[in-house]
Amino acid sequence: MTQSRYHEVYAQWQKNPQGFWAEAAKGLDWVSAPKTTFDPDAGVYGRWFADGACNTSYNCLDRHIANGRGDQAAVIYDSPVTNTKRVLTYKELLREVELTGHMLNGMGVEKGDRVIIYMPMIPEAVVAMLACARIGAVHSVVFGGFAAHELATRIDDATPKAIIAASCGIEPGRVVHYKPLLDRAIDEAHHKPSACLIFQREQENAKLIDGRDHDWAALRADLVAKNAGPLAPVTVKATDPLYVLYTSGTTGKPKGVVRDNGGHMVALNWTMGAIYDINPGDVYWAASDVGWVVGHSYIVYAPLLRGATTVVYEGKPVGTPDPGAFWRMISEHKIKVLFTAPTAFRAIKKEDPGAEFLKKYDISCLTALFLAGERADPDTVKWAEDILKVPVIDHWWQTETGWAIAGNPLGLGMLPIKYGSPTVPMPGYDVHILDEGGKEVEAGKMGSIAIKLPLPPGCLPTLWHAEERFTSGYLTEFKGYYNTSDAGFKDQDGYLFIMGRTDDIINVAGHRLSTGGMEEVLASHPFVAECAVIGAKDSLKGEVPLGFVVLKAGVTATQAEIEKECVRLVRDQIGPVAAFKHTLVVNRLPKTRSGKILRGTMKKIADGDAWSMPATIDDPVVLDEIGAVLKTGHHPE
Ligand code: COA
Ligand code: AMP
Repeated sequence: MTQSRYHEVYAQWQKNPQGFWAEAAKGLDWVSAPKTTFDPDAGVYGRWFADGACNTSYNCLDRHIANGRGDQAAVIYDSPVTNTKRVLTYKELLREVELTGHMLNGMGVEKGDRVIIYMPMIPEAVVAMLACARIGAVHSVVFGGFAAHELATRIDDATPKAIIAASCGIEPGRVVHYKPLLDRAIDEAHHKPSACLIFQREQENAKLIDGRDHDWAALRADLVAKNAGPLAPVTVKATDPLYVLYTSGTTGKPKGVVRDNGGHMVALNWTMGAIYDINPGDVYWAASDVGWVVGHSYIVYAPLLRGATTVVYEGKPVGTPDPGAFWRMISEHKIKVLFTAPTAFRAIKKEDPGAEFLKKYDISCLTALFLAGERADPDTVKWAEDILKVPVIDHWWQTETGWAIAGNPLGLGMLPIKYGSPTVPMPGYDVHILDEGGKEVEAGKMGSIAIKLPLPPGCLPTLWHAEERFTSGYLTEFKGYYNTSDAGFKDQDGYLFIMGRTDDIINVAGHRLSTGGMEEVLASHPFVAECAVIGAKDSLKGEVPLGFVVLKAGVTATQAEIEKECVRLVRDQIGPVAAFKHTLVVNRLPKTRSGKILRGTMKKIADGDAWSMPATIDDPVVLDEIGAVLKTGHHPE
């Protein structure tokens, strides 16, 4: 192993944070280069590059074409669910982005307007995002596994002028009809977008609504017939929002994480070299979805900012068609670095524990596997190391930060791996473990993980139209710090260990979900008097939601009927991605004397972990009842 430059680089950043990021900013093209790197008086906790002006799509596209990369692949699309493959060069991608930008302009979308994007893993999703960036519009991508109600909530919060959607998505074995979901969401929402741009897929031709819906292909064909010219990138302030991405909070109302243009491009470009060791021309694959932050940062923006080739994969790790899918992708597209969630590897390991499928492929081009999105359990990491014979690197981050808070920087030279740890804080992040009173705890002791302000470039400056929620949710508990809502510890060597959330967020197959949001849905059922949802351990998905409901007096439905109803309701309101499949009927919920439901203890019982009777419990017998229901699946009559 070569000597790591990590300590030297981290110390450089500590000594002169502004100088560090000013240097990184030189790697990008600016319409007007920032004179002030950080303004501590702007925004909630200061703003990066506040007097700079730029365009993110220019830096993702035109800059590389000007540098001779026009004919290099920018996007490789590989879709085993439709049997399609397609490559878009940088020049071709720019052309598509310009055409789509023209379409959006034609629909009245201007700088600062929001555009919701509801699309599966097709190149047009990338094109749509970059087209928004080009015209200075703010995109908000909604993951395809969310149902109409969730989409409606986001429409009301983001108040988009337009929505871009595909007619359908394709999950193994079923077509996901996006268009009816979109129509229902617009019906439900108070805000009405003035236009929808619909990409009709071969698998489904959706019915368009006259006067509101536009056909992507028809508009594109018109523009091509008219020889539509290039579309100049619109200059935006570095602090103008590039996108808003909604993520789960503790309630059913999602939080709109804001990402700016300038800091975002600087930080992501830096990570591609230092963390992932990716150079222009390399092929980089983040096997995630554009609907998640990993997709925003590492399917779309970072690889393209770097001049690398990115991969849009419309498939799963298993079943499309087999557990060799990832190996085929790596060997066929010469992928240098793969980034995915541990759950994907657990899925492959479950179906092919001996990695027999790997024998069919040459994956010698692969140099590293990066994992994030949930805790990387040592068994999975070791299994991946054994079969791939490359470093398997856990790194920890959140939608809010947009890039890794902690990791093992391949590009700076790796540090020794410790299983169960995402290694060390990245330059930009001053990470502390605090006790309830906000005091630093000693090495090896658990506490809340907090980041000393300011956050580095690329992290959220605020929540969309919810500054007070941003301040109270993240910055208030520990004064001068951003509270990550993750708990963990640092060891003697400064390695971080992330042990779990301190709030009601759960992580299901690498997807971040709110148990509070699911409880709101269950509570809306006329049969339900009270409910609680916890994340129960699951060997494949890490955690899965498990509901407990207390029925209103007089309700005679059976356990099976109630479960079916609850599952249907959550799927209908939140979407299939919630993976909500189990509900148990109980007589009572365990509570403290002040009425707080003891979800933590319920989780320990469900997981079969050791637990102790909470001192504040109102009636200890209730926990025995919960234990009995979990064992038998039936509530005591
Ligand atoms: N559109 C519509 N529905 C979707 C969807 C999408 N984009 N993505 C998932 N769903 C559906 C699934 O079809 C499934 O529906 P079902 O209940 O009818 O089976 C449900 O949402 C739950 O999906 P998921 O939790 O992903 O389970 P799965 O059984 O389909 O797949 C894995 C399990 C492990 C293979 C899968 O979760 C995976 O590939 N994970 C990779 C992790 C990842 O991408 N993380 C993102 C952050 S890095
Ligand atoms: P998301 O915002 O969807 O990226 O989810 C962020 C949350 O996922 C974090 O707050 C953590 O709880 C969890 N998480 C992400 N990466 C890791 C990791 N490498 N190890 C442990 N937990 C992680």
